[in-house]
Amino acid sequence: MCGIVGFTSDEPAAPVLLRGLKCLEYRGYDSAGIATICNGQLNCGKDVGKLDEVCTNHNLIGLVGNTGIGHVRWATHGGVTMENAHPHCDCKQEIAVVHNGIIDNYEELRAELRSEHCFKSQTDTEIVAHLLEEYVEEGLSLEAAMRKVVRRIRGTYSIAAISVREPGRLVATRKDGPLVVGRDGNRKFIASDALAFMEHTHDVAYVEDGDIVVLDEDIVFTNEDGAAVDRAFKTIDWRWDEPTKQGYDYYMMKEITETPDAIRCALEQDKDLILDMAMNILRAKQVVFTACGTSRYAALVGRYLFSRLAGKFCDVIMGSEFHYFSDSVDKNTLVIAISQSGETADVIQGVKKARENGATIFSMINMIGSSIARMSDRSIYLNCGPEIGVAATKSFMSQLAILYLLAFTMANRMDEGIQKVRDVCDTIEGVIETNGLRVERIAGLTKHNNSCYYIARGINFAIAAEGALKLKEISYIHAEGMPAGELKHGTLALIEKGTPVVVICPKDYTFEETLANAAETKARGAFVIGVSEENHAMFDEWIEIHATEEIFYPLVTVVPLQLLAYYSAVARGNDPDRPRNLAKSVTVK
Ligand code: M6R
Repeated sequence: MCGIVGFTSDEPAAPVLLRGLKCLEYRGYDSAGIATICNGQLNCGKDVGKLDEVCTNHNLIGLVGNTGIGHVRWATHGGVTMENAHPHCDCKQEIAVVHNGIIDNYEELRAELRSEHCFKSQTDTEIVAHLLEEYVEEGLSLEAAMRKVVRRIRGTYSIAAISVREPGRLVATRKDGPLVVGRDGNRKFIASDALAFMEHTHDVAYVEDGDIVVLDEDIVFTNEDGAAVDRAFKTIDWRWDEPTKQGYDYYMMKEITETPDAIRCALEQDKDLILDMAMNILRAKQVVFTACGTSRYAALVGRYLFSRLAGKFCDVIMGSEFHYFSDSVDKNTLVIAISQSGETADVIQGVKKARENGATIFSMINMIGSSIARMSDRSIYLNCGPEIGVAATKSFMSQLAILYLLAFTMANRMDEGIQKVRDVCDTIEGVIETNGLRVERIAGLTKHNNSCYYIARGINFAIAAEGALKLKEISYIHAEGMPAGELKHGTLALIEKGTPVVVICPKDYTFEETLANAAETKARGAFVIGVSEENHAMFDEWIEIHATEEIFYPLVTVVPLQLLAYYSAVARGNDPDRPRNLAKSVTVK
């Protein structure tokens, strides 16, 4: 989703801003731009399209000035047009603003400002530039003007601004949006994601809700009332690797193959922390997982594991719905938030509400220092490194690994759990190898179908749902995943001759019943793709998996489904790393 960078020092800002935006590209965007200040003039270049194209077409690298801001936009308010791309400027071209999030009351503010100001875009962001202009004209500094703007706007936001009247200075603020500051001597950075400046510095401080931060020779944080607040700098321990495909056509394939390592790294946790979390989960009166998309499917696997291994029932509520249940959330509730990015706005909203109600928050996060990690009483990091493909793959496996670790610990079998997950992990490399060509061929057979269904029972139901999510998000084929038993309660009406039905049926205690459901689809002409350790006459195509213990099947069944989605996307000419309309980090509600 949108990404912000800002930089001030005594060297040219444009190259640093563009490098920063490059690092944020993976989050998904439709337009890009930067603004710099030089000799009392604001230089701004922006457009629709990929960063490299915008950079070439508008000579962004040639925008002179040592202070600047940059942005990659994922459209919310207003279409994908050059006018709507950020930065947005005031009427006099003196102030430039970039923004992440949504300003809820922008229509009312726009109506108020319209008679005196000339609006060039349809965005909610532009009102910030004009409001700043109003207040600066009243004689306020950019910082004081920003403080006044914050009192006028409602919504979720991270905002950074520069003004020709105060060269060498950046002013920024946030509410429920990510914003982090970095320093390296006289070079000061701000970004919505520390990855944007990780190659320059690991010395960071997080901007908190309501803070106004000013970056010039110093970095000063103040609160809504202008009083100084202390935001400690710390070194984040994240090795920066230039994202490269390392010979793979797409990041997604690279990341699928990194799965075994991702699982092993996820198992490397502080045992005391795991023990403490497991005990708290067991003791809690009510445990609720909250997450979105793929992370929610990991939570569904977790729910099953907690029940099966430790007899602990938990609920799973999707992030965007959780706050509607806040009447039932109190100090006896333990919330487990799962999120790769740690910045998913829907999850943040639910977690915030739960905290207000006194709940304890645990989280499982990949991005170090992200908002959800910082809102949590305890947080476990996935340790799988940056995931660039929009489709979550290795991070899902890391989430599963940690859920196994917790569940086994809850059953007082931590070391056994670690060993067993490691053993299964060794077979996953084989799954990728054995199935690559076969799955690619199957994707070729089904690439023209309009719909595809995924069914499974028990712990693998979540994998059916995840397989379907993967397929639809990158191949754009309509897909649904459901418990096999649920099929006949409605969806069976959609099965016709040739409809692909992926049947996940390992040879565990769900095998016969799942196969019976597959037979119901077959009788109506379905093209049955079986995912099992043994072939069966029912299957038109068979994807082979390794035999394992029932609870570990998700680790081996999901990989071929990720591959099926990948090859389907490629066969249909799509870029699996950057699916249309989607963003890696969903920072708006
Ligand atoms: O960063 P999060 O794990 O909180 O993201 C949640 C979802 O947006 C994410 O899993 C999304 O569904 C993925 N694109 C799925 O591949």
